[in-house]
Amino acid sequence: TKYDRILIGHPTWWGIPPRIINTVIEKLDLSGKEIATFSTSGGSTYDQAQKVMNELIGSDVKPGRVLSSKKDVENWLRDINFK
Ligand SMILES: Cc1cc2nc3c(=O)[nH]c(=O)nc-3n(C[C@H](O)[C@H](O)[C@H](O)COP(=O)(O)O)c2cc1C
Repeated sequence: TKYDRILIGHPTWWGIPPRIINTVIEKLDLSGKEIATFSTSGGSTYDQAQKVMNELIGSDVKPGRVLSSKKDVENWLRDINFK
């Protein structure tokens, strides 16, 4: 509750976040938070995961990304104005 910005990272399973991620998000009170989600993955893009997140969290969730390196993380945080 003491944070305004929430980052949620998850693996990609069959193109989308594993169901346990939905369960966790459903249990969190994220009202009023700035939220961004990201994935590690073996090759999938973030497109399908983004659709799941938009439905779960709302369309104001920041554009997510697959992150594979420190540089990816830095670029993404800058692009979503979290840095
Ligand atoms: C059941 C299962 C399904 C997976 N499906 C995908 C997938 O559709 N696309 C993908 O890029 N990676 C897939 N992966 C790979 C995971 O995204 C990868 O294991 C995850 O990013 C965590 O990385 P780590 O195994 O190095 O910890 C899958 C992994 C598992 C166990």
